[in-house]
Amino acid sequence: MEQIVISGTGVFTPEESITNEELVKAYNTYAEIHNSANKNDIRQGNKVALELSSEEFIYKASGIKNRYVMDKKGILDPNIMHPILEKRSNDEPSILAEISVKAAKKAMENAGKTAHDIDAVITACSNLERAYPAVSIEVQELLGIKGFAFDMNVACSSATFAIQAAADMIKSGSAKTILIVDPEICSGHLDFKDRDCHFIFGDVCTAMILEKKESAKSNNSFEILSTKCITQFSNNIRNNFGFLNNAKKSIPLDRDLLFMQEGRKVFKEVVPMVSQLISDHIGEEEIKVEEIKRLWLHQANKSMNDFIGKKVLGRVPEDHEQPNILQDYANTSSAGSIIAFSLFNDDMKNDDIGVLCSFGAGYSAGSIILKKVP
Ligand code: COA
Repeated sequence: MEQIVISGTGVFTPEESITNEELVKAYNTYAEIHNSANKNDIRQGNKVALELSSEEFIYKASGIKNRYVMDKKGILDPNIMHPILEKRSNDEPSILAEISVKAAKKAMENAGKTAHDIDAVITACSNLERAYPAVSIEVQELLGIKGFAFDMNVACSSATFAIQAAADMIKSGSAKTILIVDPEICSGHLDFKDRDCHFIFGDVCTAMILEKKESAKSNNSFEILSTKCITQFSNNIRNNFGFLNNAKKSIPLDRDLLFMQEGRKVFKEVVPMVSQLISDHIGEEEIKVEEIKRLWLHQANKSMNDFIGKKVLGRVPEDHEQPNILQDYANTSSAGSIIAFSLFNDDMKNDDIGVLCSFGAGYSAGSIILKKVP
């Protein structure tokens, strides 16, 4: 059986960040301006007053304290409430390609690979910047990689589904060494004027190198023992932005063209689905629960991860067994579990086993069993 490894990872973290305190202050100023401007309508019952947000709620409900963003100023301006990203000409690198290249260079260095060694690029993320040409092909060009490239989107599970696709491609022989990038500028699809979700997302880009074990030079490689991806249709996390918006005469600012979710329902439905997925997956691979040294879980909500970890391990996981990064990064969609893996894997010993698992819109969930290789 061919051994495929993740031989390197990289994380690009934006320079700017926003604390809960700063975010809540901006939202509450916006809400007060809105309520004051609409006070007559609110008094007459024609409009509903916006309720204020709170730091205590955000931390307690999600575990998030901070998020990194590509533009802080626009998000925190109560009269703007969205990031402002420079419009670039077609001759300049697109912003997604630019952050992908930054993360990719780190992953390539980590894996000891040059562009010459890589023969395929997959951009796997929730929030693609444009319809075409594929961002992946631009990343390929900017890095000077030969071969082929394509984009794929399975929302928060894009990265794990890309790992499965890339491992299968290497096994089949269609590529030898694959670069996966997960650029997630989630602040672009978030409605910062919506109290229920304004705190959820942050921006980041992660990258990974996948190749055969025999070609890997890195001394921190993880064999992909097995992958298991599942999907089950749900409207509980949805964004209707798409290429038919013009045909459907959608107004550009329709609320449903940004991220929407029924958070409570997602929580209740996804926790059992993911716990079952991981338990089934390790069972099918005849791996005992006691052999699992680490769970690198999707980073959406700390309580969700606590439930899943407890269900899978049959006890409360120690902090180091299930590292969370969402207190610093918030939810970064497909990149979250990859950040956790990238930042918390170098203490793993040879033959230690861990599970990388994402879950999110679709619903979609991907479980990847990894073993540190000597
Ligand atoms: N500040 C203060 N109060 C707030 C608030 C805010 N920013 N946002 C919502 N509230 C209020 C609600 O209006 C509600 O009030 P009510 O009880 O009077 O109706 C109350 O707090 C509880 O809101 P609810 O949305 O039920 O909170 P929750 O405990 O479910 O937490 C999430 C919300 C989104 C953090 C949580 O449901 C979650 O993370 N779900 C999983 C989401 C997920 O994984 N999504 C994948 C995305 S890719």
